[in-house]
Amino acid sequence: MAKLADKVAIVTGAAQGIGLGIARVFVAEGARVLLADVNDEAGAAAARELGAAAAYQHADVAREAEVRALIDAAAARFGRLDIVVNNAGIVAVQTVEESSLEDWDRVMAINVRAIFLTAKYALPHLRAAGGGSILNVASVSSLVGQQGTPAYCASKGAVLMLTKSLALDYGREHIRVNCICPGITDTPMLRFHARHADDPEAHLRQRLARVPSGTMLYPDDMGRAAAFLCSDEADGITGTSLVVDGGYTACAEFFAAG
Ligand code: NAI
Repeated sequence: MAKLADKVAIVTGAAQGIGLGIARVFVAEGARVLLADVNDEAGAAAARELGAAAAYQHADVAREAEVRALIDAAAARFGRLDIVVNNAGIVAVQTVEESSLEDWDRVMAINVRAIFLTAKYALPHLRAAGGGSILNVASVSSLVGQQGTPAYCASKGAVLMLTKSLALDYGREHIRVNCICPGITDTPMLRFHARHADDPEAHLRQRLARVPSGTMLYPDDMGRAAAFLCSDEADGITGTSLVVDGGYTACAEFFAAG
């Protein structure tokens, strides 16, 4: 039985990477999905690839009017709304001294403020559906620090607490709010981050050597975790974070055997 049969979902930042992985698994699990992004060409191509259960709409999650239009469009197109996945996010590889106020605010607007906006406009629809799920894509950087990315780490810490706070406010209405904390996942963002190193491939190998599983994670790994948390199988789960990191945050130090 498909995990998300008859459910209608919005996935933000779904043109590529983890968002696309989540949308792909959701469609495979029976959901109808409205993909949202600012990269219209890739977003529309992704929706076409996913078939009739998927559609694409432009939405910059930093803009209130576009978020509101996105939520209303999903409900109008599919007749209901059950799930909102807040996946869109950016990373700025800049120390505080290298960042302008605008750089800081942009990371916060996309990674954190957008969750406030989608929740604000989606909650009436989730309530009308008799309950639903908000799933936020946080990070291992919600739990442990990462060098050279203060705005990103601060934003992902905020995602974790916003998740818990929303879960408390809407639990009685059967609206569950959870997050996933991805580890090192092969996406264009990861490759972009690695580009700042002198030797990007060596940099990625070095980072992976510190992961107990030793393996790269892929967008579909996040899709399966997200599908579980948004499915009725996870009925008793709200206000929590599911860490999908190959063991990365389990250790203070790790030395591979052999
Ligand atoms: P990505 O950069 O490959 O994809 C992000 C997508 O979001 C892109 O399609 C982009 O156009 C879209 N986007 C950016 N700004 C937007 C906006 N204002 N409105 C709507 N869409 C927007 O990134 P990736 O790696 O797939 O990351 C997705 C989420 O996963 C992010 O929240 C990120 O912080 C998180 N994450 C990623 C990890 C990784 O290793 N790749 C690890 C931990 C968390």
